Amino acid sequence: MTDQNLAIVVLAAGQGTRMKSATPKLLHELGGIPIVAHVLATAKELDAAHVVAVVRHERDRLAAVIAQELPEAVIVDQDEVPGTGRAVEQAVEALPADFAGDVLVVNGDVPLLDAATLRELIAAHRSGEAAATILSSFPADATGYGRIVRTPEGHLDRIVEHKDATEDERRIGEINAGIYLFGLAALRDRLALVSTDNAQGEKYLTDVIALLREAGFDVDALPVPESWLVEGINDRAQLSDAAAKLNALLVRTWQLAGVTVQDPATTWIDVKAKLAPDVTLLPGTQIRGATVVKTGATIGPDTTLLDCEVGEGATVKRADATLSVIGAGATVGPFSYLRPGTVLGAGGKIGTFSETKNAVIGEGTKLAHFNYVGDAEVGARGNLGAGVITANYDGVNKHRTEIGSDVRISTNTVLVAPVRMGDGAYTGAGTVVRKDVPAGALAITVAPQRNIEGWVAEKRPGTDADRAAKAADAAESGE
Ligand code: UD1
Ligand code: CA
Repeated sequence: MTDQNLAIVVLAAGQGTRMKSATPKLLHELGGIPIVAHVLATAKELDAAHVVAVVRHERDRLAAVIAQELPEAVIVDQDEVPGTGRAVEQAVEALPADFAGDVLVVNGDVPLLDAATLRELIAAHRSGEAAATILSSFPADATGYGRIVRTPEGHLDRIVEHKDATEDERRIGEINAGIYLFGLAALRDRLALVSTDNAQGEKYLTDVIALLREAGFDVDALPVPESWLVEGINDRAQLSDAAAKLNALLVRTWQLAGVTVQDPATTWIDVKAKLAPDVTLLPGTQIRGATVVKTGATIGPDTTLLDCEVGEGATVKRADATLSVIGAGATVGPFSYLRPGTVLGAGGKIGTFSETKNAVIGEGTKLAHFNYVGDAEVGARGNLGAGVITANYDGVNKHRTEIGSDVRISTNTVLVAPVRMGDGAYTGAGTVVRKDVPAGALAITVAPQRNIEGWVAEKRPGTDADRAAKAADAAESGE
């Protein structure tokens, strides 16, 4: 049920300079989706009456992702006044005039925070008297965070940013998590008073806390049970720390749902992936994007699947596949490359050093070694021998190859597209198929073999080959 008394403000306007990246910080990937998408998903779970996202740096790229992930969010452009305080001030101005509830402010760069923890914050705030309640934590390394300064009685007094803190203040282990719940009126009045008089020349949202205290309001800080919940991402080291934590959580969740993960440390599962019970993931496996793996399938070792669908009981070993469908009971690998548009039928095989692209391969059909099949449709129960390839590219355009069912295509056959082979057709080894092959025909293009006797003795006298041939002749005539 929508919480009519709740508005959520997502702060996403910062520059993210510490990432040193051409990609905006909040669009860096974590578990296969942008950092900010995690925060938006959590906001969505809370089902607030209003969500406002504040953007500025790379605003179009951010706005596009926000519109896609949470279309109901109102996007507000932060002006040239920098700082989290200014961002919230503008977000509050964008709320409907009749809204009078609570404002939950979340930093866009705190992606691991879950809805359950936020619900506890909301409940704690609503059951208490404080004008604001914030989340705090005790991370192993507090460097860079704003520190929570408490009164001798233990009440929250103010927040001091790392850059503005004294040596003593920097020794404080409790930090501001960047997650705040304010009563709207108290927040709005205080924001107007925040100055830019600090080390970064920004309007700090955190100054609202001290201003509320000075005006006689109570403010509470609620420590989270585990500090990883509120770890912010400012640089790439924090990004990989968060990715490892998220992955460990996901691996554990899937293990408890019945998936065997032999080596959690080298297995990576994206948030959108779906795994059935009795799937086995072997070391070095990456299940990326919206990949779906059905029951009984074994993936790995050393396999990357991006946006793939793997059927029941299939085996995918040392392979790289993108936007591909692998049928039930099919086998892929070792050392196979499935490019977008590959559809391998049930019980089929794509084997060693075989590559496919935009290719629909029928049930039970095998491409066992050294194949390239692109822009093709192959029927069921066929066999493509070692080295069979489709020559789909004439240097300018791509062309299609159509192959019927139950074919036997011999080794090193080149199918020069556009071309068709009928049901049950054969080719001889080394055939170059340039014309359609009717059903049941054998296509051969290689000239009959001719042996020129004594060629080595005449043309390569005195070589090892000559000596070996003479020894063989002698042995034969001696018998
Ligand atoms: C902020 C807090 C700090 C806290 C930490 C927790 C302030 C002043 N400091 O510091 O106390 O410990 O988060 O992670 O708030 N943003 C805007 N507009 C801006 C600047 C930032 O929308 O003008 C957004 C950023 O995109 C980001 C969030 O606000 O999502 C936090 O900004 P960031 O610069 O990372 O703040 P910190 O220095 O980490
Ligand atoms: Ca931050």
